[in-house]
Amino acid sequence: MEYILNQEQVAIQQAARDFARVELLPGIIERDNSQTFDKDSLRKMGQMGFMGMMVPEQYGGGGMDTLSYVIAMEEICKVDASAGVIMSVNNSLVCWGIEAYGTEEQKRAYLPDLATGTKLGAFCLSEPEAGSDATSQHTMAVEMDDHYLINGTKNWITNGNISEVCLVIAQTHPAKRHRGINVFLVDKGLPGFVVGRKEDKMGIRASDTHSLLFSDVKVPKSKRIGEDGFGFKFAMNTLNGGRIGIAAQALGIAAGAYELSLQYAKQRRTFGKPISEHQGIQFKLAEMATRIEAARQLVYKAAWMKDSGKNYINEAAMAKLFASEVAMWVTTEAVQIHGGYGYVKEYHVERHMRDAKITQIYEGTSEIQKLVIAREILK
Ligand code: CAA
Ligand code: FAD
Repeated sequence: MEYILNQEQVAIQQAARDFARVELLPGIIERDNSQTFDKDSLRKMGQMGFMGMMVPEQYGGGGMDTLSYVIAMEEICKVDASAGVIMSVNNSLVCWGIEAYGTEEQKRAYLPDLATGTKLGAFCLSEPEAGSDATSQHTMAVEMDDHYLINGTKNWITNGNISEVCLVIAQTHPAKRHRGINVFLVDKGLPGFVVGRKEDKMGIRASDTHSLLFSDVKVPKSKRIGEDGFGFKFAMNTLNGGRIGIAAQALGIAAGAYELSLQYAKQRRTFGKPISEHQGIQFKLAEMATRIEAARQLVYKAAWMKDSGKNYINEAAMAKLFASEVAMWVTTEAVQIHGGYGYVKEYHVERHMRDAKITQIYEGTSEIQKLVIAREILK
């Protein structure tokens, strides 16, 4: 596996690290409290090239590989996992999906704005009755003369309010089940397309999560991506890459909490010495570092497999499963190492712990990752 970082990747890592410290760390507790992500930070993330890292340069992106992307995700999420999910959805689901399967016209129309962060995208698969069971789409896209008529509700949509374009997955031919599903580029502002309730969340609170409501929304046929019935395959193929992004988010959350804990353990004194000199704390730190390194290997390997053009379904699911479990475990231990101080917002680790939990749920729960892995290894 040839993923030792090259000079360019080291530079990206440093740039993302600096950006997170200088631009994202200030105000992070306030953003978590107020559940808002300021437009200025979003604009700067776009200017830094974080919004379309893997999009080819001809469409306004960074033309980078997946490994560069996960390295940047890790650094951003060490500080701000909300920024990480906004970035992840835009990069690995929306931009990648359009780039991989869109027509030339669709790429030219959408990618330059999305890749520069001038506009944001959302990925709309989940519904009130179709989360893990994603083939059970209730949102309908009925084919008319020159357009489709979309009706239904999407739930839990990241960037639901702040996005300007949505990839909407909907059923066209129910008798064909998942092979009758389509995916559309749906612009905000179309009549009948309404942004619904904002969710009040446990973690990643500064990222916006909304339901989206579609009532007779007229979408031109030219906005369908791929052949008739390709929508579910589109969603699954896109999510394979998305899962690497979320695995990198989980890795970043874990690594951020670990770095804070290491620092804190050297400073905090009990029984006449720093707590880092108590073996009980040393063992925690050693295990945190080991699990994080193992997660990093899986995330990098999945990215490398994708970049090498190999089948990465299994590796992406393994990376997400493992890194998200590591994130939950490490952040819980981080709070423990901080004692009472870990339980208050000022020390950041409680936020990391709340943020970690979502990585076990979205883009396929841990149980669904196990199902995907089992199917791959039993093939
Ligand atoms: N890659 C490519 N194709 C896949 C695939 C994968 N990982 N998983 C399934 N498929 C294909 C299958 O090959 C099959 O195709 P054909 O029948 O045409 O050959 C088709 O999808 C249906 O698969 P199954 O028969 O296995 O269907 P199932 O209903 O038993 O299981 C599932 C499907 C794997 C559970 C799927 O529904 C799934 O992944 N669910 C989780 C949904 C999910 O991840 N949602 C995330 C929403 S986005 C999000 O969350 C963003 C965010 O938070 C920021
Ligand atoms: P369910 O599918 O109802 O699952 C409930 C429980 O049952 C889980 O523990 C699950 O693992 C388990 N379970 C279900 N089926 C099985 C099985 N076959 N075997 C074993 N266990 C099983 N979706 C989008 O489309 N776009 C987004 O941008 C997006 N962003 C999100 C942001 C947030 C903050 C949240 C909370 C969710 C987001 N989602 C998004 C939705 C997310 O992908 C779903 O919540 C997730 O896929 C789980 O679906 P569900 O909530 O319906 O849970």
